[in-house]
Amino acid sequence: MTDIAVLGYGTVGSGVVEVIDKNNASIDMKAGGGIRIKYVLDLRDFPGDRVESILVHDFDTILNDPDVRIVVEVMGGVEPAYSFVKKSLLAGKSVCTSNKELVAKHGPELISIARSKNINFLFEASVGGAIPVIRPINSSLTADPILQIKGILNGTTNYILTQMADEGWEFDKALETAQKLGYAERNPEADIEGYDACRKIAILSSLAFGKNVDYENIYTEGISKITALDIVYAKKLGCAVKLLASSVCEDGRYYAMVAPFLVGSSHPLYGVCGVYNAIFVNGESIGDVMFYGSGAGKLPTACAVVADVVDAAKHLDKHIYTFWSDEELKLTGIENATRRFFVRVSGQSGSRDKIDSVFGEVSYITVDEDPDGFGFVTGPVTEKWFNERLKEIEGVKGRIRFE
Ligand code: HSE
Repeated sequence: MTDIAVLGYGTVGSGVVEVIDKNNASIDMKAGGGIRIKYVLDLRDFPGDRVESILVHDFDTILNDPDVRIVVEVMGGVEPAYSFVKKSLLAGKSVCTSNKELVAKHGPELISIARSKNINFLFEASVGGAIPVIRPINSSLTADPILQIKGILNGTTNYILTQMADEGWEFDKALETAQKLGYAERNPEADIEGYDACRKIAILSSLAFGKNVDYENIYTEGISKITALDIVYAKKLGCAVKLLASSVCEDGRYYAMVAPFLVGSSHPLYGVCGVYNAIFVNGESIGDVMFYGSGAGKLPTACAVVADVVDAAKHLDKHIYTFWSDEELKLTGIENATRRFFVRVSGQSGSRDKIDSVFGEVSYITVDEDPDGFGFVTGPVTEKWFNERLKEIEGVKGRIRFE
């Protein structure tokens, strides 16, 4: 029997308890022995709840109990999660977490402690919810150097963008609905401004490239400026707007970014809708491998955490090697990346002469819903060139990159 403790009885924590209770027989069989939840830590009380008798308020109860071999951290945020996780690892307890803030900020240090103690720090649930992507990067895709990772890594923003496209809603209404359905948090900043996707691509890139990608160095743009009118133009262009997170290794240089992109209807990410996530991993010999599934939600995320618990139980005194050094991976700025841009402009067609003279050949686009404005699409240009020229155009209402 392996005793575990769950830190945090919120959405994911209660999901972990539910999954272990519900699937106990098959989980025990797959772990090669029983898994028992000995403690749940939370500041709150839960009278009448299934965890009432195992609820503790003091982390030291867990830390000082030698029977607890695995600690599940599902509190979220950096502190006190970081202190609790570090103390658990130093005490020889493996840790499984869904906490991407923690992993993105302290991943290399926590992996290194786990290695020194011959135990494990596992974090499959920190990226892509139920989608197995971290374990494949660490084990199945190790034969070929990974050159590119690209995907939709945030379920909340994908839900919002899908609703805007399907219902014609403005951003605020789609966000409000996402909040009502429990997808978006009351403070939605981390999701809508792209910070959540940024941390996730930092984690995946660090694992893929083997050096630490500091999420603070990743160019990040969210979706809060995308309007219903942008989506109307996107549809006319045969595209969907998707928040893409990507990292690329090209000629020994590394680029990473998070931003909304126009994705054409033949692109495999076009049809990834609602709270679903999808992640492409590309290698020289393997080509594209795509992972798709529920990127968020209580039970999908809890299942990924519990699968890590099973793995940790199977490797109680054996470290599963993860290559993520603390040496910083230098990222190259995105200013020389070349792509096409869609620009939306208010005003009369008179300004087209100016646009032609500044941008050279562009194609224009109009929609009935925007009688006083128009859009144009540039040819392939660098970010730097585009940004400098865009300053010369009056009445710019927005711009979106093409994938
Ligand atoms: N807020 C995150 C999302 C939860 O919407 O994807 C899963 O990490």
